[in-house]
Amino acid sequence: PLQAFIFDLDGVITDTAEYHYLAWRALGEELGIPFTREFNEELKGVSRMDSLEKILALGSRENDFSLIEKEALATKKNEHYVRLIANISPDDILPGIKDLITEIKEKGYRLGMASVSKNAFTVMDSLGLKGEFDIIVDAATIAKGKPDPEIFLTAAKLLNVDPSACIGIEDAAAGVDSIKDAGMFAVGVGSEESLAKADIIYSSTEQLSLANIMKAYQKK
Ligand code: G6P
Ligand code: MG
Repeated sequence: PLQAFIFDLDGVITDTAEYHYLAWRALGEELGIPFTREFNEELKGVSRMDSLEKILALGSRENDFSLIEKEALATKKNEHYVRLIANISPDDILPGIKDLITEIKEKGYRLGMASVSKNAFTVMDSLGLKGEFDIIVDAATIAKGKPDPEIFLTAAKLLNVDPSACIGIEDAAAGVDSIKDAGMFAVGVGSEESLAKADIIYSSTEQLSLANIMKAYQKK
């Protein structure tokens, strides 16, 4: 039986996925590598350095920079991102998320967060949600980012539950892969085409409903 829910942060709990996109897009343009929202789907859920590598590869520029230069580029993107999230507050929690968290806790399920962002704790703090989660697994705890299953497996371990008793919620293709390879049930928030591997997909967080998720989970 179901025991826990593990949430992604950026793009699920709050719309920081948009800020990551804006900051990467600005850096890309500076490097002469403009990219589309469609390409950005490949960056969602992916760690800072892996995202940079994907952008450089898109522009066939992966060999143009030393590691130190790449780190400087990643830092530049992060400084931009940090400016964009400076004013986020509990008002920025996406619609439906607060109610879903409340329902999950009322029903006695455990609650975890799995985000590869080094800014995850800051964002959770600004949203006033840090205390709501039993555990938070971020970049500091893991060796391999999404799509590797390590982060969701680590979350299950820390929650002391079996992966098969967990539901993961993600807005990123890399995140859905991570959930599925961890042996969990995957809820996708976003488009059918980018999240095809999810077990159930909602177009927005507003549509998320514990009752519907449970129905789909029990059918599996
Ligand atoms: C999340 C986001 C990604 C971001 C990654 C690293 O997974 O979905 O877009 O690149 O975190 O974030 P960071 O804050 O460490 O640069
Ligand atoms: Mg995300």
